[in-house]
Amino acid sequence: MAKEIVQFRNLETHFHTPAGIVKAVDNVSFSIREGETLCVVGESGCGKSVTAMSLMRLVESPPARISGEIWFDGKDVLKLSKKEMSNLRGNDISIIFQEPMSSLNPVLTIGEQITEPLARHLLMDRKEAKKRAIELIRLVGIPRAEAIFDAYPHELSGGMRQRVMIAIALSCNPKLLIADEPTTALDVTIQAQILDLMRDLKKKFSTAIMLITHDLGVVAEMADYVVVMYAGKIIEEAPVLELFQNPQHPYTKGLLNAKPILGQKRERLYSIPGQVPNPIELEDNCHFHDRCEYCMEICRIKPPPFRAHGNDKHKTACWLYEEEREIHERSSHTG
Ligand SMILES: Nc1ncnc2c1ncn2[C@@H]1O[C@H](COP(=O)(O)OP(=O)(O)OP(=O)(O)O)[C@@H](O)[C@H]1O
Ligand SMILES: [Mg+2]
Repeated sequence: MAKEIVQFRNLETHFHTPAGIVKAVDNVSFSIREGETLCVVGESGCGKSVTAMSLMRLVESPPARISGEIWFDGKDVLKLSKKEMSNLRGNDISIIFQEPMSSLNPVLTIGEQITEPLARHLLMDRKEAKKRAIELIRLVGIPRAEAIFDAYPHELSGGMRQRVMIAIALSCNPKLLIADEPTTALDVTIQAQILDLMRDLKKKFSTAIMLITHDLGVVAEMADYVVVMYAGKIIEEAPVLELFQNPQHPYTKGLLNAKPILGQKRERLYSIPGQVPNPIELEDNCHFHDRCEYCMEICRIKPPPFRAHGNDKHKTACWLYEEEREIHERSSHTG
């Protein structure tokens, strides 16, 4: 089995704000294996981006207080010096954000922006870097690569800019590519092309991908493994087929019932009645209880354990399965 390249262990990223503590990421543990695409799904505000930003050490602290551990390729990320961290960001981990326009520098040409990391991290000279940059522009499927090399971001379409972002992200052959809603701002066809591109690149370079998305259609097409977050916690995780065929948590079932149509752009998934709880007033219980049709007394007062119920790779935090387990255990004792 492939090696685990990233391990989040009991990660807590809490923001200490004047209004109270926002537990944006609360005791989150999961791993990503080499060459695997792991999707993180969940509604707006559940902590997806903060999880990724914690790994990149791009969360400002204060106001954030981060505890737990994040391991990347044998390195204890939260303990690295600034310099080691900057090397890690340039060489081993790349990130693509949702808005390609705001991530590209408007006053530099595309060529300057792709060659900069090549020169800085791979120490290429100008000629070499230009050659490689043009190869990368071609690789991400942009025609007229030489002309694009000298163009400015505003001269490109949104889809082309996102491809350029991917080219920059891939320029140093990262071991991990983090893509935070990389296609949300794009139209359906371009979205499909960008996803195809990411899939090809994963195959070619066996880059691990942490893909953050609201869109279960994207998950179905891209993921090997899925982590479902709700209000700062992981409430379910499983290999993709297992999750789609046998969702366990009522929240995951609700998301799947929203029935995404493959290839169709969707708004955020708000088909489950009720709202995500206020992140400042979270109690120590099941955070989904007041939206859950199966809510029991215990759900209001105690957080459910996160564990496997049958299939080892499929874990869920839900009291329903604990009840079933108890009944099962009781009957096997008496029977
Ligand atoms: N600097 C900050 N100070 C205080 N709270 C913050 C800060 N950054 C993020 N948060 C809070 O942390 C929680 C998680 O935010 P995060 O950006 O991870 O959500 P998300 O799952 O990525 O949502 P979206 O799908 O909308 O991008 C939210 O409640 C957010 O308001
Ligand atoms: Mg986000």
